[in-house]
Amino acid sequence: MADVHNIDRVTTQRIATKIGPGSKEGKQSPSSPIGIFDSGVGGLTVFRELQRQLPNEDIIYIADTARVPYGGRSPQEIIKINHQIINYLIKQGVKLIIMACGTSSAIAYPVVKDEYKTGIISLIGPGSRAAIQASRNGYVGVIATVGTIESEAYQKRIVELHSDAEVTAVATPLLVPLVEGGFIDADETRRVLKEYLAPIIEKGCDTLILGCTHYPHLAKLIKAVVGPGITLVDPAIRAVEETKKLLTKRSLLKDNSKPAKYTFLVTGSVVQFQDLGSKLMGKPIIGAKQVRL
Ligand code: DGL
Repeated sequence: MADVHNIDRVTTQRIATKIGPGSKEGKQSPSSPIGIFDSGVGGLTVFRELQRQLPNEDIIYIADTARVPYGGRSPQEIIKINHQIINYLIKQGVKLIIMACGTSSAIAYPVVKDEYKTGIISLIGPGSRAAIQASRNGYVGVIATVGTIESEAYQKRIVELHSDAEVTAVATPLLVPLVEGGFIDADETRRVLKEYLAPIIEKGCDTLILGCTHYPHLAKLIKAVVGPGITLVDPAIRAVEETKKLLTKRSLLKDNSKPAKYTFLVTGSVVQFQDLGSKLMGKPIIGAKQVRL
């Protein structure tokens, strides 16, 4: 099992403080953007939820497509990547960051959350709370990347919230490559899902957490495999609700005087991200720029 708490705190503190003098941390205003990030197009499911619940907000989205997938990487790599991206977003003056990535939320969040003044939202707490609320029989399924499942972040959080709950956690490593490859409605994806979801159905789970942000792109297929008796939980819905509450509490909600501005930054191919992103979102994703973090 991955133990993120063995990471050298001195090293991580040093990386975090690299934001350095002139950092805009702590000087954010309501008009500052919200920063979100993922390894690829998964974070678009969080972006969509942000647009729906907080339509005035400016958003900076980082898709680290040069390093997708994150799911099989070591905790050390995930934490290093998170420091790079969070530092980059803070330099852009974001007022809050949502880890639009289950793997980062599970592995890096416990390490980085207290290193920054900027609020950081993970998906684990919100997803667990939503699942506990949705479940009637206490049998909760979770599908996620290998890193997320091995961290046991969901398993521990759910049992903390409800000691009688029983979690069936299944690592589903083929799903991110299938989504990134555009195999959204393919027979191959259906076959893989049937195999991955069998233990969750057999256990009698009535609730299933989509523990990787790529998976809501497959929600229709997943629903078709598990049937109407299992409620799908997309952690992004609760995470954005909690983001809205936090911004309200900090008087950081943007008003509607100017239209929302969206900035897409990718570390890999711009064309590939825009093409797949547009296909998944059903509307054009344009103007993405390539960046080095
Ligand atoms: N979408 C991310 C997650 O939620 C990353 C998946 C990956 O790159 O493996 O875990």
